[in-house]
Amino acid sequence: MIDIGQNDIAGAFYSKSLDQVLASIPSILETFEVGLRRLYDEGGRNFWIHNTGPLGCLAQNIAKFGTDPTKLGEFGCVSSHNQAAKLFNLQLHALSKKIQAQFPDSNVTYVDIFSIKSNLIANYSRFGFENPLMACCGVGGAPLNYDSRITCGQTKVIDGISVTAKACNDSSEYINWDGIHYTEAANNFVSSQILTGKYSDPPFSDQMPFFLSLKF
Ligand SMILES: *[C@@H]1O[C@H](CO)[C@@H](O)[C@H](O)[C@H]1NC(C)=O
Ligand SMILES: *[C@@H]1O[C@H](CO)[C@@H](O)[C@H](O)[C@H]1NC(C)=O
Ligand SMILES: *[C@@H]1O[C@H](CO)[C@@H](O)[C@H](O)[C@H]1NC(C)=O
Repeated sequence: MIDIGQNDIAGAFYSKSLDQVLASIPSILETFEVGLRRLYDEGGRNFWIHNTGPLGCLAQNIAKFGTDPTKLGEFGCVSSHNQAAKLFNLQLHALSKKIQAQFPDSNVTYVDIFSIKSNLIANYSRFGFENPLMACCGVGGAPLNYDSRITCGQTKVIDGISVTAKACNDSSEYINWDGIHYTEAANNFVSSQILTGKYSDPPFSDQMPFFLSLKF
């Protein structure tokens, strides 16, 4: 498994405007395509491509780019980041189709993680969560419990006071673990949704039966 890309987009916002970030997506995907072709040349035949999630919903991005409420859109997430994630995913989906057409002896499956995570964040209470955006492990309390100066587990003197970024009491109430990563409970939800096959193109239930043995 190779997990790359999310921070290429989120990180780009620190030095680029939205238009510049959007303009850089094709070149990010060209590099990704080169990597896919190399894996194919090495004998890779089954590709499972997960798209990127709603980056604008990560506490780290809301804390940095969402202080002006006009920058926030649906679910209280940073609109520009989610817009970039959506455009990236559209182009990634098209690339998946192109690669499938060019490698007829392989299976290329595109999985819409963005929709799974958006559904979780929008409808969190229905899925047993209490906090859709606030980090479990951090400092500062509501609404985000996130401070970019200190990471989960660290103890630091901030504004003259020694503070420790500790975990919340019950991480299963939270979607976000440390401002960037998802909690185990949220990842459990995401994997169970992936395994329904409904978010895959093509749906994998009859395409890739070996996933059925992965249920937990
Ligand atoms: C939230 O749930 C409703 C009802 O099932 C659904 O229509 C909606 O698409 C969900 N929201 C997201 C962002 O998936
Ligand atoms: C965690 O639980 C302890 C003991 O019940 C309580 O004193 C504390 O306030 C709780 N902390 C949080 C962040 O909810
Ligand atoms: C592609 O998936 C189908 C269905 O699971 C399988 O029969 C086939 O062997 C796979 N192709 C490769 C190259 O593994």
